[in-house]
Amino acid sequence: MKIKQIELEQVAGFKAQWPKDEMVELAFVGRSNVGKSSFINSFLGRKNLAKTSSKPGKTRTINFYRINNDFRLVDLPGYGYAKVSKAEKDKWDRLINEYLHERENLREVFLLVDIRHEPTTLDKQMYDWIIESGFTGFVIATKYDKISRGQIQKHIKQIKKKLNIADEGLIFAYSSETKHNKDVLEEQVEVIVKA
Ligand code: GTP
Ligand code: MG
Repeated sequence: MKIKQIELEQVAGFKAQWPKDEMVELAFVGRSNVGKSSFINSFLGRKNLAKTSSKPGKTRTINFYRINNDFRLVDLPGYGYAKVSKAEKDKWDRLINEYLHERENLREVFLLVDIRHEPTTLDKQMYDWIIESGFTGFVIATKYDKISRGQIQKHIKQIKKKLNIADEGLIFAYSSETKHNKDVLEEQVEVIVKA
């Protein structure tokens, strides 16, 4: 898949702002700071398209990136960030859940987890929901560049076990820094979009 055209088409703080058509969408979910926005940037080959931050809670809206006039990648706020008020947390959770539950355009949901850490209870709940909802259950294990080679298999196994992932082929170790596995994910995205 060649990415020829990228446009930040819409920044949505509420449902009425979602694009109104039937274009296929792929969404990226995960804890705050796991690297969702960085993934989108590196995948699209644009450094600062999606705003990122070393502090959790950067993305606070649903951001729709329109690719090749063909499909969208959707960046969502993260969940599980402890250091914001309950009201703020509830607001992000509502935004995320409303989109995931109600968006008819949604073709596939990728769960992002940090390769260094065991997935949390919230990650497990999200993954269970993804599977129950009939999505494939792809997992992107981010920040691959931050662990040593010798540790990788152990961490992948831990993630697979904790989330109860059916097949190791569903997990992709990824690095926004080195773009490790970008080619494999590009192929996967193409398959999903063309299905
Ligand atoms: P929220 O929008 O707050 O939910 O976070 P997010 O999931 O979008 O994370 P974001 O992309 O903003 O990245 C968080 C931090 O992790 C930033 O400092 C990124 O530079 C860093 N980061 C993300 N992915 C990688 C990676 O693959 N490798 C390394 N080394 N750092 C990464
Ligand atoms: Mg973000």
